[in-house]
Amino acid sequence: MKDILVTGGAGYIGSHTAVELIAAGYRPILVDNFSNTDERLLEGMARITGQEPIVHRGDCCDLEFMRTLFQQYTFAGVIHFAAYKAVGESVAQPLKYYHNNIVSLTNLLQLLEVFEVRSLVFSSSCTVYGQPEQLPIREDGPENKATSPYGCTKQIGEQILSDFYRAHSDFTIGMLRYFNPIGAHPSGWIGELPFGVPNNLVPFLTQATAGHRQALTVFGADYDTPDGSCIRDFIHVVDLAKAHVKTLDFLMRQTSCCEAINLGQGKGNSVFEVIQTFEAVNGVQVPHSIGARRAGDVVQIWADASKAKRLLDWQTELTLGDALRDAWNWQCHLDKG
Ligand code: UD1
Repeated sequence: MKDILVTGGAGYIGSHTAVELIAAGYRPILVDNFSNTDERLLEGMARITGQEPIVHRGDCCDLEFMRTLFQQYTFAGVIHFAAYKAVGESVAQPLKYYHNNIVSLTNLLQLLEVFEVRSLVFSSSCTVYGQPEQLPIREDGPENKATSPYGCTKQIGEQILSDFYRAHSDFTIGMLRYFNPIGAHPSGWIGELPFGVPNNLVPFLTQATAGHRQALTVFGADYDTPDGSCIRDFIHVVDLAKAHVKTLDFLMRQTSCCEAINLGQGKGNSVFEVIQTFEAVNGVQVPHSIGARRAGDVVQIWADASKAKRLLDWQTELTLGDALRDAWNWQCHLDKG
């Protein structure tokens, strides 16, 4: 059985990916500093898979700690999720973001080189595109200036990987540009667990609907879009997790590659459409009001997802409605304790 190091493996996307890795016959070895997740996701993973996750508590910026993992296991590949991801916080605390997101990556690359682990999947983001001029956006489309330090760390991360690859052409690297991951495992045992007030749309929406927050504010209804609200490409986290397994399979079949790949549905939905769909699939009302635009938001973005189909034989199977049903199921699970 192949061991795969999954950094940030106890987090939202990491936990769903670990579940899919196990289903595909891999053995995920998780590392997490638990700075933005908690033990509940480990328990949930155990319930879904029937096995206790193998998890090491520690920080990817700690090179010596990471080295002990590479000494202990023979990794066939690495999926690197561990990073900070809150756009607003990155504006307030840029050094925290540059340090954590960049040092963890360069540490990892040093160890991959020394221990000759040649396949790496990197969590990137559609944020590298800024506000695209043409939609849908392809991987070879122009990158605009990122609108936050968080976005810059993803652009720099991709740059570091491209430079590293140029010097090490025997590596296989996938840089996965996620659009907007939402939803939860259909079992309700794992899902998004943000600490404090959620920044992202769907966790805020579920918590507001459950009565834990005040009404959801729609950040701007005066954009130049059909209903005035922003448009995003929302992707079910289980589809996203499966894409990581397919990427790993693909990288292991290659002898040399460094590819950026969009992961999205290939279509956009507006914030109002999310609210309406959530109400329709769950039979609940979402308390909401219209507020001011949020600084730094792009107006609209959705993926050209054809490269993922071509290279990975992957495309989304789940709909926006599926994701919003599963997000609400997860919230209800949490509330029941
Ligand atoms: C952004 C990045 C994404 C990154 C994510 C990390 C872009 C295009 N996307 O997602 O790559 O992974 O941050 O956090 O840069 N909204 C409301 N009310 C709310 C919350 C959100 O109306 O309370 C709206 C936002 O204005 C936006 C949409 O919902 O139009 C989605 O927002 P959010 O879930 O925060 O994700 P992005 O900002 O799109």
